[in-house]
Amino acid sequence: MRTDFSPINRSKAIFDDIYALDDPRAYFSVLGDLDYMIPDVAEPVVRQILTAKASATGLKPVVLDVGCSYGINAAVHRFPLTFGGLRHRYARREMRAISSETLVHLDRNFYAAWPDVGSARFIGLDMSAPAISYATDVGLLEQGIVADLEKEALSTDSARIIRSTDVIMSTGCIGYVTEKTFSKILDATDERLWIISFVLRMFPFDSLAATFARRGLVTERLAGATFIQRRFRDADEFESCLASLAALGVDATGLESEGLFHADLILSRPEADARHASGRNCHRR
Ligand SMILES: C[S@@+](CC[C@H](N)C(=O)[O-])C[C@H]1O[C@@H](n2cnc3c(N)ncnc32)[C@H](O)[C@@H]1O
Repeated sequence: MRTDFSPINRSKAIFDDIYALDDPRAYFSVLGDLDYMIPDVAEPVVRQILTAKASATGLKPVVLDVGCSYGINAAVHRFPLTFGGLRHRYARREMRAISSETLVHLDRNFYAAWPDVGSARFIGLDMSAPAISYATDVGLLEQGIVADLEKEALSTDSARIIRSTDVIMSTGCIGYVTEKTFSKILDATDERLWIISFVLRMFPFDSLAATFARRGLVTERLAGATFIQRRFRDADEFESCLASLAALGVDATGLESEGLFHADLILSRPEADARHASGRNCHRR
């Protein structure tokens, strides 16, 4: 069965314009106003998972951030920075006045001036060419791929770039992308990789989990904890989300009912790794 998230997506605000600009100022301003925080709340957990993944080899894993946008997950992982803090950087009147070109130059120096405390190397994939260009130009991503794998094939060059991926991660992207995108990525990568997905609770994960299972990956959802993505933009978005959750039989009480989108943490990895880790905090789907 193919996933069709379009009815759920119709109930979500559209931000396409801020994803496709030459720099992330509007992204931080618009999503920051909605208290977008998933990169920040995901980061400590992502760090633990990356450390666990690295323990087998002792090497820094290569993370492919799917729907990476301007490379914000790489920024908050690799440097002692937060989405909230970066938002304030770009909200300054002086920062709003400069050209994108100047901003890229300043940001390249800005990121280079911080110690890299990351436990991984980052590459990224996004359908937005300007966002990928920014993220690679300022040094957040080692390499970037511009592609919409919902609609197009993975090019040979892109396949070569993602071949070294050890971990795929995504925040705020599943819903825009489905198992179609992941299948194409998995065709080009090693079957021992791990997939860290932060997924809004209104998007069913079954088709993705089934796709991963066909490649020998076991999918576990962290029970008893959720991760705030952002506030609802308005009453329409709030009500539509509650309706989508109700249709799925998901109880929104105390979570989305309080006015916030919540994401689940879902980890997919080879059976042997899942067994080895014993799933102290996780339960099988
Ligand atoms: C809400 S943003 C999330 C960005 C980033 N992961 C974060 O949390 O800050 C969604 C991103 O998904 C990207 N996107 C949407 N549809 C996509 C597709 N079909 N393939 C790749 N990227 C896509 C958008 O361009 C945008 O950068």
